[in-house]
Amino acid sequence: MTRRPPVAAACLAALAAAAGCTHRAAVPAPAPASLAAALRGAFLVGAAVNEGVFSGRDTAGAALVAAQFNSVTPENALKWESLHPGRGRYDFAAADRYVAFGERHGMFVVGHTLVWHNQTPSWVFEDTTGHPVSRDTLVARLRDHILTVVGRYRGRVAGWDVVNEAVADDGSLRRTPWLSIVGEDYPVLAFRFAHEADPAAQLYYNDYSLENAPKRAGAIALVRRLLAAGVPVAGVGLQEHDRLDWPAAADVDTTIAAFAALGVKVMVTELDVDVLPRAVRQTGADVTLAAAARPELNPWPAALPDSVQQQLARRYAELFGVFLRHRGQVSRVTFWGVTDRDSWKNDWPVRGRTNYPLLFDREGRPKPAFDAVIAAADAARPGF
Ligand code: G3I
Repeated sequence: MTRRPPVAAACLAALAAAAGCTHRAAVPAPAPASLAAALRGAFLVGAAVNEGVFSGRDTAGAALVAAQFNSVTPENALKWESLHPGRGRYDFAAADRYVAFGERHGMFVVGHTLVWHNQTPSWVFEDTTGHPVSRDTLVARLRDHILTVVGRYRGRVAGWDVVNEAVADDGSLRRTPWLSIVGEDYPVLAFRFAHEADPAAQLYYNDYSLENAPKRAGAIALVRRLLAAGVPVAGVGLQEHDRLDWPAAADVDTTIAAFAALGVKVMVTELDVDVLPRAVRQTGADVTLAAAARPELNPWPAALPDSVQQQLARRYAELFGVFLRHRGQVSRVTFWGVTDRDSWKNDWPVRGRTNYPLLFDREGRPKPAFDAVIAAADAARPGF
């Protein structure tokens, strides 16, 4: 096994180097432990980044991303409401900064997301009197949006989450304005438009809770329909908004194998592990779910107890064990955020909690879970 320097020291060195720090230490800085280096040859490792990171305002966060990851996904900046807030009105300022950040650091740049039922302004589905538009009008708006956005970043954004969360828990197509106005072929149209705008871009279907059998079956049927229609689906994104006790590793394994059997790449696109008590029955990431704050739902506002910290590390080791076993099929693993401070899990499904779902703590320091991922990679090498 490769000997590595203590991770905390290595990361501080990486942060200093990335921030352009020229301070000369008496002892030469050890080679940094990085997720990207540890997993090179297995799959890409990415993070969802927010405006603070890609604008450089969060200098420590930007340095951490540059040091640790080789792929980025925009947490919100490329969603419809951010890019195209009004009819005929596009705003690419933040998105341009995001793409430039990824390019500057030589990263695999992901676009997220073209068609979703959330964070899409209501004007998209309505005429000027507030009534639903016709199918033709909505298809024309969809085409304009995709051609404009994908076209702008042609050759620069390497892969797009084209359709996001189109399948309901029972496996049927989710009831959304896309479905009710356009009909069942809206995913096919979206993929066709994206391919027209950038024939070289990888195009993905992305969803959560695909370990639940009915939903997985629905997503498999959808991907089969897309492939049968001649649509170039390059991959399927398993979001993996996980918990300490869900999903079972065996179900993650089954899910990766099931999508890989369709002949598409499999990506883990939004990984995090919620350590807090369950506030809603459902698993996954339905952003419309909400629960009232209660002290017992936020048990660790100051610090995570060591026992839970270790549980989180074991959980990450378990998950990466599965991903690494499927390394020929899994092409990327992306975390949904960089540090615990920035995670959406602090506000969903209960606002204002203190959650600990990622590998870096609120100060950007690597947690035991980080060491567990590096150790899992070391254990799987030299297989890759
Ligand atoms: O932009 C407004 C800002 O103007 C306002 O001051 C602030 C006050 O709350 O809200 C800001 O909007 C927030 C937005 O993120 C941008 O920060 C919304 O309230 C908040 O709901 C929104 O949450 C995002 C969520 O998607 C919305 O659907 C999360 O950051 C983002 O992590 C999350 O990401 C999704 C993936 O795209 C798809 N899969 C599930 C995943 C987690 O929900």
